Amino acid sequence: MEIIAHRGYSAAYPENTLLAFRKAYEVGATGIELDARLTADNVVIVMHDSSVDRTTNGSGEVAALTYAEIKKLDAGIRKGIAFENEPVPTLEAVLRELGGKLKINVELVNYESKGQDKLVDSVIEMIVDLDLKDSVFLSSFRFQNLVRAKDLLPEIHCGLLALPGFKGWSARNILNHSINVDALHPNLRDVSEKLVRLEHLSRRQVRVWTVNESYDMLQMQRLGVDGIFTDDPLLGLVYNDPPKE
Ligand code: G3P
Repeated sequence: MEIIAHRGYSAAYPENTLLAFRKAYEVGATGIELDARLTADNVVIVMHDSSVDRTTNGSGEVAALTYAEIKKLDAGIRKGIAFENEPVPTLEAVLRELGGKLKINVELVNYESKGQDKLVDSVIEMIVDLDLKDSVFLSSFRFQNLVRAKDLLPEIHCGLLALPGFKGWSARNILNHSINVDALHPNLRDVSEKLVRLEHLSRRQVRVWTVNESYDMLQMQRLGVDGIFTDDPLLGLVYNDPPKE
């Protein structure tokens, strides 16, 4: 089972920073997951939220700030003083440092912004330029992103994210069968033996988010899912291959 560090090793390090990605790599995670969005001047940066408020010492919407402004922010301090001065990384910096060393799941989080195609186009261009199409894969709750990505680069592996519960019903039952994606990424609460079997019969992989408890890690392994997203990749690795009696 793939152990994918959700926003990097975010249980112990500031999420979506190079430090959190390096630490995930160092403990042996199969991959990292990160969130890609555009600044006002169209630089692809790594940040989950639409604003910088929660994870940095700044404030404002990413889409309204330039990269020069975001570059000055501290994305480590809110996790602890030990992480002071950890910058917001660009996607390019992450891909250049870690590309090819482990799998990198780029979630396209252009859910609010206008000009959404630009993010997809920029990310695909970067993957092609850096020759990383075999180790980078995309995901999004916005299925149109994945359709566009496949149009631009048919070989790129794409996972359709499904929101928990009723809101994700369509993604789990209709969209997954209607568009060309390689995987379904359901929420933990929606995973069943039937769902995993159906996806596998349909030749799609299943990666589950966000799995942070040892019980759930073992349960996902028993159900035969292909991967889990976890804030704690070390715990995930420990429970990935439990000793036999
Ligand atoms: O990709 C799995 C998971 O990251 C999706 O949820 O909220 O972290 O983007 P979120």
